[in-house]
Amino acid sequence: MAIREIRKDGDEILRKKSREVETIDDRIRELLDDMLETMHASNGVGISAVQVGILKRLVVIDLYDGNKPLKLVNPVIVKQKGEQEVEEGCLSFPNQFAKVIRPMEVTVKALDENGKKITVKGKELLAQALAHEIDHLDGKLFIDIMEPGTMQYIEPENTSSNN
Ligand code: NI
Repeated sequence: MAIREIRKDGDEILRKKSREVETIDDRIRELLDDMLETMHASNGVGISAVQVGILKRLVVIDLYDGNKPLKLVNPVIVKQKGEQEVEEGCLSFPNQFAKVIRPMEVTVKALDENGKKITVKGKELLAQALAHEIDHLDGKLFIDIMEPGTMQYIEPENTSSNN
């Protein structure tokens, strides 16, 4: 496992569309582990492969709630319900937070790290994280949907809701 460099605001790669993963092999599993390690090192709750410079449809999420981190290959939101207004950050935008509207509940279909089809249902923070990370796969960022004038700069000790 290794910590990879996180691509930051202004890096053109963040605007690119990621490609579907066709074969889930040891290289993909290693990348997923690296993404997790990179995210943990920055106290994030989610990260997408594009944020470590790789245009593949891969997402990891860890809410630090005792559940095993999610490793998702080719995730797609198939259903969403409701709305929540949340304060959101992103590992590619260090110390920046803004208000966004996210779905209250989402259902996501994906493959796991062994290629098995899985369905993940998330509410609240998990729904937010899933929506945020899946947006990254299409080059969409939270600043695109933030409520104007709500961007705040917050000191590093309060970064646990970075996505
Ligand atoms: Ni992000």
